[in-house]
Amino acid sequence: MAKNPKAPSKLLPIYVLNGPNLNLLGTREPEIYGRTTLADIEKAVVTRAGSWGLGVSFRQTNAESELVDWLQEARTGASAVILNAAAYTHTSVALYDALKALDKPIIEVHLSNPYAREPFRHHSYVSPAATGVICGLKDQGYLLAVDALATLLKDKKK
Ligand code: DQA
Repeated sequence: MAKNPKAPSKLLPIYVLNGPNLNLLGTREPEIYGRTTLADIEKAVVTRAGSWGLGVSFRQTNAESELVDWLQEARTGASAVILNAAAYTHTSVALYDALKALDKPIIEVHLSNPYAREPFRHHSYVSPAATGVICGLKDQGYLLAVDALATLLKDKKK
């Protein structure tokens, strides 16, 4: 994709943070999450962000504490965050607190639509602290989040 001339420049990278079991994408319940692997998503995200002149730090962990550490790091290290906290979305007050302490644009992403699934997935501790939420669009959601952040960051610079 050609470089976008209106791209924000000289910004800190976007952190794209992925929670538990997302390392299994491609083989994990493909009827729900699709057959795209996390490595495929990373590649597509890096390319899309690059087209906006944005860098990416793409990470996955199964540990809640590591997600908290990365969100704290993002306070000074990132221009914005895309977060798929996976199951911790529905359980983690610690993530909510870390997100509330982060004064940056935050997009919550889910591959599936949690609201069309089991009731325990209907509550998110991430949503009240997020700038926006994208769910149910499989891997496309990550790319839409990058596009949204590129626009938000550009508007912020005006
Ligand atoms: C998920 C949805 C969560 O409910 C689930 O625990 C996940 C993945 C998604 O991307 O659809 O692990 O965040």
